[in-house]
Amino acid sequence: MTHPVCMVLGADSDIGRTIACRFGKERFDLYLTTRSLDRIDQDWSSKLKDDYRIKISWFHFEGLEFDSHMNFYQHLPQPPEVVICVFGYLGDQKKAEVDFTEALKITQSNYTSQVSILNIVAEDMEHRKKGVIIGVSSVAGDRGRKANYLYGSAKGAFTIYLSGLRNRLHKSGVHVITIKPGYIRTKMTQHLTTPRWLTARPGQLAEKVFDAYLRKTNTVYYFSRWRWIMWLIKGIPETLFKRLNL
Ligand SMILES: NC(=O)c1ccc[n+]([C@@H]2O[C@H](COP(=O)([O-])OP(=O)(O)OC[C@H]3O[C@@H](n4cnc5c(N)ncnc54)[C@H](OP(=O)(O)O)[C@@H]3O)[C@@H](O)[C@H]2O)c1
Repeated sequence: MTHPVCMVLGADSDIGRTIACRFGKERFDLYLTTRSLDRIDQDWSSKLKDDYRIKISWFHFEGLEFDSHMNFYQHLPQPPEVVICVFGYLGDQKKAEVDFTEALKITQSNYTSQVSILNIVAEDMEHRKKGVIIGVSSVAGDRGRKANYLYGSAKGAFTIYLSGLRNRLHKSGVHVITIKPGYIRTKMTQHLTTPRWLTARPGQLAEKVFDAYLRKTNTVYYFSRWRWIMWLIKGIPETLFKRLNL
């Protein structure tokens, strides 16, 4: 029996793995990408394959190698039904303020790379008149803060890109979902002290992503309380906001 295929770009991340598991549990065959094929946890991958009786294929994918993206996508064994763009880079805001190489890495790893690969995926799905694209953005993209406005600005651009893509692809029957996590306990945030009531586990987020896939939700905040928090934060007048220590 053939299963539908779900591709997770950045599947070696803490969030990527749990999302891959969740779709695997529903009997999607998985195309998983990483930048380091030699670092794959083979035990985890084999267990997932055996537990759910699915096929798993790993591919090398580097977001910053824009020129490789067309070739990468065209050489997949079959076109995926679901493409989930998880990869991203928090980076070092302070360093990026004075080192343009770091600023470029942050903006390209969280926006330009996603545009490059998703433009290709979108063309294909529009042509096939089916498919689902899921992009993991961030609440950080809702308003610029001094603590992380380079990462935030790239995520904000990604959110707007996904919104435009959703609008474009709607008439073709292709659905686009924007995921805006708040704090998720992963290696990206392990150096930060975050409030417990605002910090979710990757597994909780993965459940929500699958639920959004089933319901064809447009935008998901996780935890959902972040929707109201960001609504309040966006409502603070700029004259006051610029004085705050956020
Ligand atoms: N954790 C949070 O609180 C949080 C909140 C909001 C949004 N997010 C977003 O959730 C996604 C997953 O993050 P995570 O917390 O699971 O972090 P993570 O474990 O650090 O994962 C980041 C992943 O992105 C990959 N990556 C980075 N730059 C890449 C590039 N240029 N090309 C291909 N892959 C690249 C990394 O690969 P390597 O291992 O090879 O470096 C890694 O697998 C990210 O987009 C992040 O911005 C996270």
